[in-house]
Amino acid sequence: MTRVAVVYNDDSALARGDAQDAIAVQGVVSCARSVADSLRARGHAAETLALPPDPRAVAMFVGALRVDVVFNLVEAIGGDARREPAFAWACELHGIAYTGSPPRAMTLCLEKPVAQALLGASGVPVPRHVVLARGDEPVASLSYPVIVKPSREDASHGIESASVVRDEAAMRARARHVIEHYAQPAIVEEFVEGREINVALIASPRGLEILPLSEIDYAGFPPEMPRIVSYAGKWIETSRDWALTQVIAARGLDNAQRARIEAVARRAFYVLGLHGYGRVDVRLDARGEPHVIDVNPNPDISPDAGFALAAARGGYAHADLVEWIVASARRPE
Ligand SMILES: Nc1ncnc2c1ncn2[C@@H]1O[C@H](COP(=O)(O)OP(=O)(O)O)[C@@H](O)[C@H]1O
Ligand SMILES: [Mg+2]
Repeated sequence: MTRVAVVYNDDSALARGDAQDAIAVQGVVSCARSVADSLRARGHAAETLALPPDPRAVAMFVGALRVDVVFNLVEAIGGDARREPAFAWACELHGIAYTGSPPRAMTLCLEKPVAQALLGASGVPVPRHVVLARGDEPVASLSYPVIVKPSREDASHGIESASVVRDEAAMRARARHVIEHYAQPAIVEEFVEGREINVALIASPRGLEILPLSEIDYAGFPPEMPRIVSYAGKWIETSRDWALTQVIAARGLDNAQRARIEAVARRAFYVLGLHGYGRVDVRLDARGEPHVIDVNPNPDISPDAGFALAAARGGYAHADLVEWIVASARRPE
Protein backbone atom coordinates (compact mmCIF):
# COMPACT_ATOMS: atom_id res chain seq x y z
CA MET A 1 0.00 0.00 0.00
CA THR A 2 1.42 3.34 -1.09
CA ARG A 3 0.25 6.63 0.38
CA VAL A 4 -0.35 8.99 -2.52
CA ALA A 5 -1.28 12.67 -2.64
CA VAL A 6 -2.90 13.46 -5.98
CA VAL A 7 -2.09 17.15 -6.39
CA TYR A 8 -3.77 19.36 -8.97
CA ASN A 9 -4.13 23.06 -9.63
CA ASP A 10 -7.61 24.51 -9.41
CA ASP A 11 -7.10 27.84 -11.13
CA SER A 12 -10.49 28.21 -12.80
CA ALA A 13 -10.79 31.78 -11.52
CA LEU A 14 -7.40 32.88 -12.76
CA ALA A 15 -6.90 32.11 -16.46
CA ARG A 16 -5.12 34.57 -18.71
CA GLY A 17 -5.65 35.23 -22.40
CA ASP A 18 -9.18 34.71 -23.70
CA ALA A 19 -11.89 34.09 -21.17
CA GLN A 20 -12.48 30.80 -22.97
CA ASP A 21 -8.91 29.73 -22.11
CA ALA A 22 -10.32 29.06 -18.62
CA ILE A 23 -12.18 25.96 -19.74
CA ALA A 24 -8.92 24.09 -20.18
CA VAL A 25 -8.14 24.14 -16.47
CA GLN A 26 -11.38 22.58 -15.23
CA GLY A 27 -10.70 19.08 -16.50
CA VAL A 28 -7.83 18.59 -14.09
CA VAL A 29 -10.15 18.47 -11.07
CA SER A 30 -12.10 15.47 -12.32
CA CYS A 31 -8.88 13.88 -13.55
CA ALA A 32 -7.53 14.05 -9.99
CA ARG A 33 -10.65 12.34 -8.64
CA SER A 34 -10.42 9.52 -11.16
CA VAL A 35 -6.73 8.94 -10.41
CA ALA A 36 -7.46 8.76 -6.68
CA ASP A 37 -10.41 6.40 -7.29
CA SER A 38 -8.26 4.09 -9.41
CA LEU A 39 -5.50 4.04 -6.80
CA ARG A 40 -7.97 3.25 -4.00
CA ALA A 41 -9.44 0.48 -6.14
CA ARG A 42 -5.97 -1.08 -6.09
CA GLY A 43 -5.64 -0.78 -2.34
CA HIS A 44 -3.57 2.37 -2.08
CA ALA A 45 -4.34 5.30 0.20
CA ALA A 46 -5.01 8.28 -2.04
CA GLU A 47 -6.22 11.79 -1.34
CA THR A 48 -6.75 14.67 -3.76
CA LEU A 49 -5.28 18.03 -2.84
CA ALA A 50 -5.66 21.37 -4.63
CA LEU A 51 -2.44 23.33 -4.85
CA PRO A 52 -2.88 26.87 -3.53
CA PRO A 53 -2.73 29.42 -6.35
CA ASP A 54 -0.35 31.68 -4.40
CA PRO A 55 3.15 30.78 -5.67
CA ARG A 56 4.65 31.69 -2.28
CA ALA A 57 2.63 28.92 -0.63
CA VAL A 58 3.93 26.12 -2.87
CA ALA A 59 7.11 25.24 -0.98
CA MET A 60 5.24 25.16 2.36
CA PHE A 61 2.46 23.05 0.85
CA VAL A 62 4.91 20.46 -0.43
CA GLY A 63 6.90 20.51 2.80
CA ALA A 64 3.75 19.67 4.77
CA LEU A 65 2.90 16.56 2.70
CA ARG A 66 3.23 13.27 4.60
CA VAL A 67 2.94 10.72 1.79
CA ASP A 68 5.12 8.24 -0.08
CA VAL A 69 4.45 9.67 -3.52
CA VAL A 70 3.01 12.85 -5.01
CA PHE A 71 0.92 12.19 -8.11
CA ASN A 72 1.69 15.34 -10.04
CA LEU A 73 -1.28 16.71 -11.99
CA VAL A 74 -0.16 20.32 -11.56
CA GLU A 75 -0.24 22.13 -14.90
CA ALA A 76 0.11 25.71 -13.73
CA ILE A 77 0.63 27.73 -10.58
CA GLY A 78 -1.55 30.76 -10.03
CA GLY A 79 -2.88 30.28 -13.57
CA ASP A 80 0.58 30.48 -15.13
CA ALA A 81 1.70 27.42 -17.11
CA ARG A 82 5.27 28.77 -17.09
CA ARG A 83 5.38 27.89 -13.40
CA GLU A 84 4.33 24.26 -13.90
CA PRO A 85 7.92 23.02 -13.34
CA ALA A 86 8.12 24.85 -10.00
CA PHE A 87 5.92 22.23 -8.33
CA ALA A 88 8.16 19.38 -9.47
CA TRP A 89 11.12 21.47 -8.32
CA ALA A 90 9.53 21.86 -4.89
CA CYS A 91 9.17 18.05 -4.66
CA GLU A 92 12.82 17.70 -5.68
CA LEU A 93 13.96 20.19 -3.07
CA HIS A 94 11.93 18.50 -0.34
CA GLY A 95 13.13 15.04 -1.41
CA ILE A 96 9.58 13.82 -2.04
CA ALA A 97 8.98 11.21 -4.77
CA TYR A 98 6.73 12.52 -7.53
CA THR A 99 5.25 11.07 -10.70
CA GLY A 100 5.97 11.96 -14.29
CA SER A 101 8.58 14.17 -15.80
CA PRO A 102 11.26 16.23 -14.08
CA PRO A 103 11.14 20.03 -14.23
CA ARG A 104 13.80 20.21 -16.95
CA ALA A 105 11.66 18.23 -19.41
CA MET A 106 8.64 20.43 -18.65
CA THR A 107 10.67 23.57 -19.20
CA LEU A 108 12.05 22.32 -22.50
CA CYS A 109 8.65 21.23 -23.79
CA LEU A 110 6.99 24.49 -22.76
CA GLU A 111 9.47 26.35 -24.93
CA LYS A 112 8.60 24.98 -28.36
CA PRO A 113 11.56 26.51 -30.23
CA VAL A 114 13.99 24.98 -27.70
CA ALA A 115 12.35 21.56 -27.85
CA GLN A 116 12.27 21.65 -31.66
CA ALA A 117 15.94 22.73 -31.81
CA LEU A 118 17.04 19.96 -29.47
CA LEU A 119 15.03 17.35 -31.36
CA GLY A 120 16.34 18.54 -34.71
CA ALA A 121 19.92 18.53 -33.48
CA SER A 122 19.42 14.96 -32.25
CA GLY A 123 18.22 13.75 -35.63
CA VAL A 124 14.52 13.60 -34.76
CA PRO A 125 12.57 14.97 -37.75
CA VAL A 126 10.72 18.21 -36.95
CA PRO A 127 8.98 20.69 -39.26
CA ARG A 128 11.16 23.51 -40.59
CA HIS A 129 10.45 26.60 -38.52
CA VAL A 130 11.41 30.14 -37.60
CA VAL A 131 10.79 32.18 -34.47
CA LEU A 132 9.50 35.75 -34.56
CA ALA A 133 9.85 37.92 -31.47
CA ARG A 134 8.61 41.15 -33.10
CA GLY A 135 6.93 40.13 -36.32
CA ASP A 136 8.86 42.31 -38.74
CA GLU A 137 12.32 40.72 -38.55
CA PRO A 138 13.81 39.02 -41.60
CA VAL A 139 13.25 35.26 -41.69
CA ALA A 140 14.59 32.34 -43.68
CA SER A 141 12.32 31.25 -46.48
CA LEU A 142 9.63 28.71 -45.65
CA SER A 143 7.31 26.79 -47.87
CA TYR A 144 3.68 27.65 -47.36
CA PRO A 145 1.24 26.94 -45.83
CA VAL A 146 2.69 27.45 -42.36
CA ILE A 147 1.14 27.39 -38.89
CA VAL A 148 1.80 30.25 -36.47
CA LYS A 149 1.72 29.26 -32.80
CA PRO A 150 2.51 30.87 -29.46
CA SER A 151 5.98 29.58 -28.60
CA ARG A 152 5.27 28.92 -24.92
CA GLU A 153 1.73 27.59 -24.66
CA ASP A 154 0.20 24.14 -24.79
CA ALA A 155 -3.30 22.65 -24.75
CA SER A 156 -3.94 24.32 -28.13
CA HIS A 157 -4.02 27.80 -26.60
CA GLY A 158 -3.87 30.28 -29.48
CA ILE A 159 -4.53 27.62 -32.14
CA GLU A 160 -7.43 28.29 -34.52
CA SER A 161 -8.17 28.18 -38.24
CA ALA A 162 -6.54 31.60 -38.65
CA SER A 163 -3.26 30.10 -37.38
CA VAL A 164 -2.71 28.40 -40.74
CA VAL A 165 -1.67 30.93 -43.39
CA ARG A 166 -0.61 30.77 -47.02
CA ASP A 167 1.75 33.72 -47.57
CA GLU A 168 4.31 35.86 -45.83
CA ALA A 169 2.06 38.89 -45.27
CA ALA A 170 -0.58 36.76 -43.54
CA MET A 171 2.15 34.95 -41.60
CA ARG A 172 3.53 38.23 -40.24
CA ALA A 173 0.07 39.53 -39.38
CA ARG A 174 -0.75 36.37 -37.45
CA ALA A 175 2.65 36.39 -35.76
CA ARG A 176 2.06 39.97 -34.56
CA HIS A 177 -1.34 38.90 -33.24
CA VAL A 178 0.19 36.01 -31.30
CA ILE A 179 3.04 38.15 -29.96
CA GLU A 180 0.66 40.83 -28.70
CA HIS A 181 -2.09 38.58 -27.45
CA TYR A 182 0.09 36.03 -25.65
CA ALA A 183 3.05 38.32 -24.83
CA GLN A 184 5.61 35.87 -26.20
CA PRO A 185 7.42 35.09 -29.47
CA ALA A 186 5.57 33.21 -32.21
CA ILE A 187 6.92 30.00 -33.72
CA VAL A 188 6.13 29.58 -37.40
CA GLU A 189 6.31 26.00 -38.66
CA GLU A 190 5.86 24.53 -42.09
CA PHE A 191 2.48 22.87 -42.11
CA VAL A 192 2.76 19.08 -42.24
CA GLU A 193 -0.56 18.18 -43.81
CA GLY A 194 -0.71 14.41 -43.45
CA ARG A 195 -2.13 12.12 -40.80
CA GLU A 196 -1.77 13.26 -37.17
CA ILE A 197 -0.76 10.42 -34.87
CA ASN A 198 -0.70 10.54 -31.06
CA VAL A 199 1.89 8.24 -29.52
CA ALA A 200 1.29 7.43 -25.86
CA LEU A 201 4.33 6.14 -23.96
CA ILE A 202 4.38 4.72 -20.46
CA ALA A 203 6.99 3.11 -18.24
CA SER A 204 5.41 -0.24 -17.34
CA PRO A 205 7.11 -3.04 -15.41
CA ARG A 206 8.35 -4.21 -18.83
CA GLY A 207 10.09 -0.92 -19.69
CA LEU A 208 8.98 2.04 -21.79
CA GLU A 209 5.92 0.77 -23.66
CA ILE A 210 4.13 2.36 -26.56
CA LEU A 211 0.35 2.06 -26.36
CA PRO A 212 -1.72 1.41 -29.48
CA LEU A 213 -1.42 4.45 -31.76
CA SER A 214 -4.24 6.97 -31.96
CA GLU A 215 -5.03 9.40 -34.70
CA ILE A 216 -7.03 12.58 -35.17
CA ASP A 217 -9.84 11.81 -37.58
CA TYR A 218 -10.05 14.76 -39.96
CA ALA A 219 -12.39 12.99 -42.37
CA GLY A 220 -15.38 15.16 -41.44
CA PHE A 221 -13.56 18.47 -41.90
CA PRO A 222 -14.89 20.55 -44.79
CA PRO A 223 -12.15 21.26 -47.37
CA GLU A 224 -11.81 24.95 -46.46
CA MET A 225 -11.14 24.18 -42.79
CA PRO A 226 -7.49 23.59 -41.80
CA ARG A 227 -6.93 20.13 -40.41
CA ILE A 228 -5.66 21.01 -36.96
CA VAL A 229 -6.66 20.45 -33.35
CA SER A 230 -7.86 23.96 -32.52
CA TYR A 231 -8.57 25.29 -29.05
CA ALA A 232 -12.29 24.90 -29.68
CA GLY A 233 -11.75 21.41 -31.09
CA LYS A 234 -9.99 20.39 -27.90
CA TRP A 235 -12.10 22.09 -25.25
CA ILE A 236 -15.38 23.71 -26.34
CA GLU A 237 -17.94 20.95 -26.41
CA THR A 238 -20.58 23.10 -28.06
CA SER A 239 -18.36 24.12 -30.99
CA ARG A 240 -18.34 22.78 -34.52
CA ASP A 241 -14.60 22.10 -34.18
CA TRP A 242 -15.29 19.89 -31.16
CA ALA A 243 -17.95 17.89 -32.97
CA LEU A 244 -15.58 17.37 -35.90
CA THR A 245 -12.41 16.55 -33.96
CA GLN A 246 -12.42 12.87 -33.02
CA VAL A 247 -9.53 10.81 -31.70
CA ILE A 248 -9.68 7.29 -33.13
CA ALA A 249 -7.48 4.22 -33.31
CA ALA A 250 -4.83 4.67 -36.01
CA ARG A 251 -5.65 2.15 -38.70
CA GLY A 252 -3.99 0.91 -41.85
CA LEU A 253 -0.39 1.82 -41.01
CA ASP A 254 1.99 -0.78 -42.35
CA ASN A 255 4.54 -2.32 -40.01
CA ALA A 256 7.46 -0.28 -41.32
CA GLN A 257 5.55 2.98 -40.93
CA ARG A 258 4.39 2.06 -37.46
CA ALA A 259 7.94 1.12 -36.44
CA ARG A 260 9.26 4.43 -37.80
CA ILE A 261 6.64 6.46 -35.90
CA GLU A 262 7.32 4.55 -32.70
CA ALA A 263 11.09 4.95 -33.02
CA VAL A 264 10.79 8.70 -33.59
CA ALA A 265 8.45 9.07 -30.60
CA ARG A 266 10.69 7.02 -28.35
CA ARG A 267 13.70 9.14 -29.27
CA ALA A 268 11.79 12.37 -28.69
CA PHE A 269 10.81 11.06 -25.22
CA TYR A 270 14.45 10.39 -24.34
CA VAL A 271 15.98 13.47 -26.00
CA LEU A 272 13.74 15.80 -24.01
CA GLY A 273 14.25 13.79 -20.82
CA LEU A 274 10.64 12.76 -20.15
CA HIS A 275 10.00 10.28 -17.36
CA GLY A 276 7.17 7.92 -16.46
CA TYR A 277 4.69 8.70 -19.20
CA GLY A 278 4.23 11.12 -22.05
CA ARG A 279 2.57 11.71 -25.40
CA VAL A 280 4.41 12.54 -28.59
CA ASP A 281 2.34 13.97 -31.43
CA VAL A 282 3.59 13.45 -34.97
CA ARG A 283 2.30 14.30 -38.41
CA LEU A 284 3.14 12.43 -41.57
CA ASP A 285 4.39 14.35 -44.61
CA ALA A 286 3.52 13.59 -48.21
CA ARG A 287 6.07 10.75 -48.23
CA GLY A 288 4.66 9.26 -45.03
CA GLU A 289 7.65 10.38 -42.93
CA PRO A 290 6.75 11.33 -39.34
CA HIS A 291 7.63 14.80 -38.01
CA VAL A 292 7.38 15.50 -34.30
CA ILE A 293 5.15 18.54 -33.77
CA ASP A 294 4.56 18.38 -30.01
CA VAL A 295 5.95 16.53 -27.00
CA ASN A 296 3.77 16.44 -23.90
CA PRO A 297 5.20 15.48 -20.51
CA ASN A 298 2.49 14.49 -18.01
CA PRO A 299 -0.31 14.32 -20.60
CA ASP A 300 -3.96 14.15 -19.60
CA ILE A 301 -4.72 10.71 -18.16
CA SER A 302 -8.42 11.25 -17.53
CA PRO A 303 -10.31 8.02 -18.25
CA ASP A 304 -12.02 9.65 -21.26
CA ALA A 305 -8.86 11.25 -22.73
CA GLY A 306 -6.81 9.82 -25.59
CA PHE A 307 -4.07 8.34 -23.42
CA ALA A 308 -6.39 6.14 -21.34
CA LEU A 309 -8.47 5.23 -24.40
CA ALA A 310 -5.30 4.04 -26.18
CA ALA A 311 -4.40 2.04 -23.07
CA ALA A 312 -7.85 0.46 -23.05
CA ARG A 313 -7.36 -0.65 -26.65
CA GLY A 314 -4.14 -2.29 -25.50
CA GLY A 315 -6.05 -4.14 -22.79
CA TYR A 316 -4.96 -1.97 -19.87
CA ALA A 317 -7.26 -0.44 -17.27
CA HIS A 318 -7.00 3.13 -16.01
CA ALA A 319 -5.87 1.65 -12.69
CA ASP A 320 -2.97 -0.13 -14.46
CA LEU A 321 -1.79 3.19 -15.85
CA VAL A 322 -1.92 5.06 -12.58
CA GLU A 323 -0.26 2.21 -10.66
CA TRP A 324 2.61 2.08 -13.16
CA ILE A 325 2.95 5.85 -13.03
CA VAL A 326 3.17 5.70 -9.24
CA ALA A 327 5.66 2.83 -9.42
CA SER A 328 7.90 4.86 -11.75
CA ALA A 329 7.80 7.95 -9.52
CA ARG A 330 11.15 9.75 -9.28
CA ARG A 331 12.65 9.68 -5.83
CA PRO A 332 15.03 12.65 -5.57
CA GLU A 333 18.39 11.95 -3.90
N1 LIG B 1 3.84 22.00 -37.97
C1 LIG B 1 2.57 21.59 -37.95
N2 LIG B 1 2.03 21.00 -39.04
C2 LIG B 1 0.74 20.59 -39.03
N3 LIG B 1 -0.10 20.75 -38.01
C3 LIG B 1 0.37 21.32 -36.89
C4 LIG B 1 1.73 21.76 -36.80
N4 LIG B 1 1.91 22.30 -35.57
C5 LIG B 1 0.73 22.20 -34.94
N5 LIG B 1 -0.21 21.62 -35.72
C6 LIG B 1 -1.63 21.40 -35.39
O1 LIG B 1 -1.98 22.25 -34.30
C7 LIG B 1 -2.33 21.47 -33.14
C8 LIG B 1 -1.78 22.13 -31.89
O2 LIG B 1 -0.39 22.35 -32.02
P1 LIG B 1 0.64 21.89 -30.91
O3 LIG B 1 1.99 22.26 -31.35
O4 LIG B 1 0.41 20.47 -30.58
O5 LIG B 1 0.24 22.83 -29.72
P2 LIG B 1 -0.16 22.50 -28.21
O6 LIG B 1 1.14 22.39 -27.49
O7 LIG B 1 -0.97 23.68 -27.82
O8 LIG B 1 -0.90 21.20 -28.20
C9 LIG B 1 -1.74 20.09 -33.42
O9 LIG B 1 -2.46 19.10 -32.74
C10 LIG B 1 -1.88 19.98 -34.93
O10 LIG B 1 -3.20 19.65 -35.30
MG1 LIG C 1 -0.34 19.39 -28.94
